[in-house]
Amino acid sequence: MKKTFIYCFLATALVVLGAYPFLKSIEFGSCLAYAFGGLRDVATDRADRFLGKVQENTARCRGGDAATSWRTTPWIDWQLYRGAAGQESIFGGIADRLGFLSPNRRGIDGALLDLEYQRIELLKFNLFDNSGTYEEYARNQNNPAGSLARIWPQFRLPEDHQSYRVAGSDGGQKCAGELTRFRTVTGICNDILNPLMGSTGQPFARNTPFEATFPDLAPDEIAKNRHGSRIGLLTPDPQVISRKIFTRHQSSPEKCNNGHGLPNNSVEANCDYQKAPHVNVLAAFWIQFMTHDWFSHLDEGHNQAELMAMGCSARRAGDTPLTPAEIERLGCRPEDRIDKSFIAQDAPPPTFNIGYKSRMSRAPRTTSNRVTAWWDASQIYGYDDNSRRRVKRDPRDSAKLQLEPIGAGATGQSGYLPTLQSSDPQNLQWAGQEAVAFPDNWNIGLSFFHNVFAREHNLFVEEFRRRVADNPEADSGLRNPARPDQMTKYREVTDEELFEVARLVVSAEIAKIHTIEWTPQMLYNEPLHLAMNANWSGLLHNHPLVSAALEKVVQRFARSDNSRNATQWYSAFAAGPGIFGLGSKKPDISGGINHFGSPFNFPEEFINAYRLHPMLPDLIEFRDLKNPNDITSKMPIVETVRAKATQALRRYGTANWALSLGRQRAGKLTLQNHPLILQNLEMPRLKSATGKIDVMALDLIRDRERGIPRYNEYRRQYGLKQLTSFDDFIDLRLPMSSPQRAEQQKLTAFLREIYGQHKCEVRKIITDAQKNPDGTQINDCLGRPDSAMVDNIEDVDALVGWLAEFVRPHGLAISETQLQVFILNASRRLFSDRFLTSSFRPEYYSDLGVNWVNENGPDGKRMGKSQSNGHEMEVSPLKRVLLRTIPELKSELDPVMNVFDPWARDRGEYYSLQWKPRPGAESDAAFKSK
Ligand code: HEM
Repeated sequence: MKKTFIYCFLATALVVLGAYPFLKSIEFGSCLAYAFGGLRDVATDRADRFLGKVQENTARCRGGDAATSWRTTPWIDWQLYRGAAGQESIFGGIADRLGFLSPNRRGIDGALLDLEYQRIELLKFNLFDNSGTYEEYARNQNNPAGSLARIWPQFRLPEDHQSYRVAGSDGGQKCAGELTRFRTVTGICNDILNPLMGSTGQPFARNTPFEATFPDLAPDEIAKNRHGSRIGLLTPDPQVISRKIFTRHQSSPEKCNNGHGLPNNSVEANCDYQKAPHVNVLAAFWIQFMTHDWFSHLDEGHNQAELMAMGCSARRAGDTPLTPAEIERLGCRPEDRIDKSFIAQDAPPPTFNIGYKSRMSRAPRTTSNRVTAWWDASQIYGYDDNSRRRVKRDPRDSAKLQLEPIGAGATGQSGYLPTLQSSDPQNLQWAGQEAVAFPDNWNIGLSFFHNVFAREHNLFVEEFRRRVADNPEADSGLRNPARPDQMTKYREVTDEELFEVARLVVSAEIAKIHTIEWTPQMLYNEPLHLAMNANWSGLLHNHPLVSAALEKVVQRFARSDNSRNATQWYSAFAAGPGIFGLGSKKPDISGGINHFGSPFNFPEEFINAYRLHPMLPDLIEFRDLKNPNDITSKMPIVETVRAKATQALRRYGTANWALSLGRQRAGKLTLQNHPLILQNLEMPRLKSATGKIDVMALDLIRDRERGIPRYNEYRRQYGLKQLTSFDDFIDLRLPMSSPQRAEQQKLTAFLREIYGQHKCEVRKIITDAQKNPDGTQINDCLGRPDSAMVDNIEDVDALVGWLAEFVRPHGLAISETQLQVFILNASRRLFSDRFLTSSFRPEYYSDLGVNWVNENGPDGKRMGKSQSNGHEMEVSPLKRVLLRTIPELKSELDPVMNVFDPWARDRGEYYSLQWKPRPGAESDAAFKSK
């Protein structure tokens, strides 16, 4: 209050002193209007959501006239705020010295507030659990005095579960003792009151109302109105879409040879792809490594036994079949077949009424997550009996993972994971690969990361053993829940316990790397750098304006009579101090978790948002550490998959692969940029006529099988503004004559050709997720007159739509639509996990483990030599892991600030996206290409 008064006084004094021209330049009037307008309320109805669009004064105060004019576009406002993009967004001069009132700080803090509002609304409107808890949740939400459920009978262990008695048979179950101590193989007892939550085999959740899923089944009148009878599993045709708008075009097709390159991996080979300037190929493989931890629909690499067609038949519903000439021209394959997805439930869902409105209690079809949903490194350590059997322990020290020394002078530390044995549970396609818990779609990047983290596991064990040797009687920090008051001395820790402690540490390290290293590089701008670090460790102390605003809202919620507000929103704002380790200082080991009234699992929409195949190039630019600037060969990715990955890693070594994948740019997530090799992937296990599949067409088919809403409704349901025609994708800031604009026009014309147009009917209401700005319902004509021809923008597959978002916030490798999916789910996988919140404490991790995670290793915090985008930064966590596990990389890694930024790129000024070499890498051949 006192502060506000001082600022008002200062502002008035400045006006009186004739500072008007200066004030105009800092949008003074708009800022005053914005400040006095107060905080916006969180929407009470989903149709009144924020949509990432602010008031005119707010936009001007944060981003000047450019931000104001942006408000009419479908895209989120904060991307045009001051300081939220590259150097050009920085407001220089004297105004920059006004501290948190400066234009740049207003812009960045404004963006952080917008992001926080989005998260609150997402937590409020986008949680739909498929395991039978939804009715209770919906009733609570509808009741102003409704409380938030925290315990659900659906998550009790069943009677035939081996731990049923331990958890307490009937009534309320509570995991205790050994079950609570470490991450369990199947993920049970992470939430001690809901043992089954997040465990292997639980249903995937949804982020959109069940009625909005499976639009092709036309579950209600609204869905029928939205799509007519235009969409289905194979309509519009997925292979036609893949070939028309996903294929990478080649300037010299003979040098690419459909992704197979040239004989002897000649450097003369070339496969064109659109390159992301600030993200490397390691980042592409990292995210595949992560997804294998979080979700899978396949069981041991299989779907159902029954095969189905994959398209290449007719463009759209009712069209004549493609002619042989068209098939030839497109390059698609009518004979391709794929196995159908497993479906957990497809009986009509039970319904219930709230008022007059009937609601489904789950989606029309559900599928289950075949791995644990927790961030528990289950791709390394296992998620069921079969996968656990593949994980090999060191026969000489069973706390360690088995690593085989390979090559002259090799040691355990530089060893490699053993390969699958005939006695291991396996799918024929995996023969010859490393024995890991999750072996599917194996490739050189997965092989690399699995080996690196196996080494890291063993390094932790070795360091722990050193402490045992040095000080056997000292307190390790660990506690046995059966004897919580008794210290566990170093010498008392068993091999099995040490193995599990190492798993906890490695999982938390991976979560940290993903949150503060991978994500900020993929979302390369200041607001998201701050937001991600805030998610992990809290940062708002540097942002008093946001902090003060949030504090006010927190207090407002805390005073609320409504327990939902007092807990749900309060917790959302509590992210200020950071989510990681929340509640770890309090006695209750699960007091820091929050499921926000809806049990945790990933939603099907999350899997859609992670279909990031365009990040892969077709050829890997291979290098040798002896001459890092030289590309010595171009290796087709297809020659580095499955068993060939294992051979390639062993033959050329982890250091050369790290260097090669670290220096090469990843593919941009955009149209016409999918790897050719994945459009023609050999799939012998299917025994189909072609023996191949088009993974891109499959991406679309799987999304349709799982009822992902089509793009426009997906945006509306996630609280983003809809598009009204394909032309809305075009970036209107581009000059009319620019080649980029011409390219975007060409691609939107393709979208029109594929998805088509129809004569609209105003009487048809197509959504209840949002309304028009004048409060009327959105109809089939999307603002155009009755019977006008409109684009079938409603039918666009979500994946196609978000790849077509040419407009993106600065530095976003992903689209703003995917970002919205991540804002919700990336926070939830931290908020819900006991081991990443209140159980992140020495009792579970040991003293060494807690420090290892907090300080990125055993030897204390290390600060980087130079600043990164104006911040003093610690040496990044993955860099520390690589320095430990592949010490040969030392000189190459020396200038690297973020392991996912191409290693030889000059990071330049504030969030630069330029592709230029850092000193010493001028001769690197990669800088000769665009
Ligand atoms: C050489 C590399 C890769 C190959 C051979 C490959 C292959 C495949 C195949 C065949 C499927 C379909 C499985 C099915 O539904 O039957 C798939 C699914 C998927 N891929 Fe890839 N992929 C590769 C790299 C990546 C990368 C880099 C990402 C990055 C995130 C990724 C993300 C996904 C996702 C999210 C799915 C869906 C999984 C699910 O439905 O549970 N893949 N991939």
